[in-house]
Amino acid sequence: MHAKRVKCDPLSRAARAAAALPFFLVLAASALSQEKPDASGAKPAAAQPEYVGSETCQACHEDIFKAFQKNNRHAALETDKRRGWETKACEACHGPGAKHAETTEKSDIRNPAKARPGQAEKACLACHTNQPTQVGRVFNGHGRNQVGCSSCHKVHAAEVRTGPRAARLNAACSACHRAERASFVRPHGHAVNEGVVACVDCHNPHGTMLPKAISTAIGGEPGCLNCHSDKRGPFAYEHPPMRLQGCTACHEPHGSANPRMLTRPRVPQLCLECHANIALPNGGTRSGALGTTPPALHDLRTIRFQNCTICHQKIHGSHIDRRLLR
Ligand code: HEC
Ligand code: HEC
Ligand code: HEC
Ligand code: HEC
Ligand code: HEC
Ligand code: HEC
Ligand code: HEC
Ligand code: HEC
Ligand code: HEC
Ligand code: HEC
Repeated sequence: MHAKRVKCDPLSRAARAAAALPFFLVLAASALSQEKPDASGAKPAAAQPEYVGSETCQACHEDIFKAFQKNNRHAALETDKRRGWETKACEACHGPGAKHAETTEKSDIRNPAKARPGQAEKACLACHTNQPTQVGRVFNGHGRNQVGCSSCHKVHAAEVRTGPRAARLNAACSACHRAERASFVRPHGHAVNEGVVACVDCHNPHGTMLPKAISTAIGGEPGCLNCHSDKRGPFAYEHPPMRLQGCTACHEPHGSANPRMLTRPRVPQLCLECHANIALPNGGTRSGALGTTPPALHDLRTIRFQNCTICHQKIHGSHIDRRLLR
């Protein structure tokens, strides 16, 4: 897949021409010149003369036409009787093209590249909005930051499908997210740079209800569980941060300097961040569970007690032991 930076100039040509006008006029002008989402799903009445059909476009846009017919999934629109764009797939996205085909004027045809991403997107969403992967769209950083569909999707030629899937998809994300990509070089991390794990295994680029567009597994749980299903509850004895804070309370999935991608170099450091201060309810009966002075059970001065997960093996949750010991 081929990544493309968002167009920085969101103004349409007409709006730019009107740039000398007072602000509100510019607004009005740009509003007028903005393409209406014409692929609004509404089927064009057969009698409407503005549509000329893709064959006509072919005469002048041979390359695009050929690439499109050959491999693009949207070419299905060309032959599909149900959706109402039969023989006029080009105009499903570009709008009625009769006038443009006659004048060949740029201004007589809609070019999504020149519209604001948010506006251009509407044409795509006219058909795609009900797709399950798009339901989190309103929460999405991409949607909110004008990263339009064609930043990631090629619309005419086929999306490149050679090479390993993950490597291909990751390259597209990395074009913008250099820092995130770089973090995977750290010694303990998912095999993203090796092209095994894809960014989109953990993130839904179209957005989700979870923060940071984390992809979801069954039941809205974080997508981590798609691969790490043994960490899925419900556990009879759950370790509360699993549910309350999630995996990132203890792990850095983008790569970490620490073994097991932990947020801290050593396990006890991590545990004691939460457990050192756990208040003892009545100052007595359970006292010293994590104290430093004998006869406390956990004598943290001895090496034996520093490696918490030697004993608390079921750190993610246990089906049989309250203390997560087995
Ligand atoms: C008679 C020739 C001709 C036909 C037929 C034709 N075009 Fe064009 N088209 C052009 C020319 C010339 C340009 C301007 C190219 C340039 O100046 O770079 C253009 C530009 C475009 C642009 C870019 C507009 C812009 O703002 O940059 C789009 C999109 C487009 N055509 C789509 C279509 C579609 C869809 C059809 C069929 C409905 C079609 N064209 C039919 C000649 C044609
Ligand atoms: C699925 C929607 C869609 C369909 C179908 C579609 N286009 Fe486009 N077209 C776009 C988008 C989006 C852009 C802007 C691409 C960008 O942002 O780089 C574009 C840009 C263009 C351009 C101008 C930029 C360029 O690449 O030269 C032309 C010309 C064009 N399309 C012609 C066509 C023709 C001819 C067809 C039918 C064979 C067609 N399009 C079918 C969405 C579509
Ligand atoms: C008129 C309806 C319509 C419009 C408008 C439309 N699409 Fe599609 N899109 C389809 C259909 C139909 C398919 C094919 C679905 C299939 O193969 O099951 C498709 C497939 C896709 C796919 C999947 C390709 C794949 O290989 O899996 C992507 C990505 C996509 N469209 C993006 C876009 C983008 C981006 C736009 C706007 C520029 C857009 N679509 C506009 C109808 C539309
Ligand atoms: C054209 C540039 C661009 C591309 C390509 C891109 N992103 Fe983004 N991404 C952004 C911008 C801009 C933001 C918003 C940043 C912010 O809010 O600070 C963002 C935010 C995010 C976030 C934060 C979550 C959120 O909803 O705010 C995630 C996760 C993300 N992108 C993942 C991806 C993945 C995965 C890919 C590849 C499929 C990708 N991005 C491709 C520009 C891009
Ligand atoms: C940040 C990059 C990015 C943006 C922006 C983006 N997509 Fe996608 N999209 C992807 C990736 C990557 C996949 C493939 C996911 C996979 O293979 O797991 C995908 C898959 C798809 C699919 C096919 C699979 C499915 O069921 O979702 C469609 C259709 C689609 N996108 C449409 C759109 C539309 C429409 C928009 C704009 C509203 C859009 N995308 C915006 C990256 C993006
Ligand atoms: C193993 C799962 C996983 C993979 C693979 C992954 N991410 Fe993330 N990513 C996460 C999680 C979890 C968070 C949230 C971290 C947090 O809340 O502190 C996140 C956060 C982000 C953010 C938001 C960062 C911020 O500071 O707001 C961006 C952007 C992002 N990821 C992009 C990417 C990109 C690009 C890739 C591929 C190069 C990628 N991620 C691969 C799990 C993953
Ligand atoms: C696409 C599947 C996939 C997803 C999704 C995924 N992981 Fe992983 N994870 C793996 C694989 C494969 C390994 C083994 C890596 C290795 O040993 O090189 C792994 C290893 C780990 C490890 C242990 C590393 C070690 O050193 O033993 C942790 C911790 C981890 N993942 C946490 C997460 C978290 C947190 C998430 C969600 C944000 C997540 N994973 C999402 C596939 C995945
Ligand atoms: C309370 C902190 C904590 C939380 C929350 C947590 N982990 Fe862990 N995880 C650990 C510790 C500590 C280890 C290292 C265990 C050891 O020392 O062997 C570990 C190890 C792992 C490993 C590698 C060893 C194994 O058991 O397979 C994976 C994979 C893993 N965690 C995935 C996850 C996932 C996925 C989540 C979220 C669903 C998660 N963890 C939430 C603390 C946590
Ligand atoms: C993000 C905070 C957090 C981290 C990090 C954390 N825990 Fe916990 N843990 C809790 C909370 C909250 C409870 C519930 C305490 C309660 O019910 O009194 C708990 C409960 C436990 C229990 C069961 C206690 C009981 O009385 O049932 C054990 C054992 C435990 N944690 C061990 C660990 C170990 C070992 C680590 C390090 C690998 C760790 N925890 C890391 C927050 C944390
Ligand atoms: C040698 C084995 C062992 C090691 C190592 C160990 N624990 Fe424990 N831990 C236990 C046992 C056994 C209990 C149950 C005590 C009881 O039921 O009274 C326990 C209980 C706990 C409890 C529950 C205390 C309560 O008030 O109910 C917490 C929290 C805990 N351990 C955290 C830790 C942390 C953090 C570490 C690492 C610094 C650690 N443990 C290291 C054996 C160990």
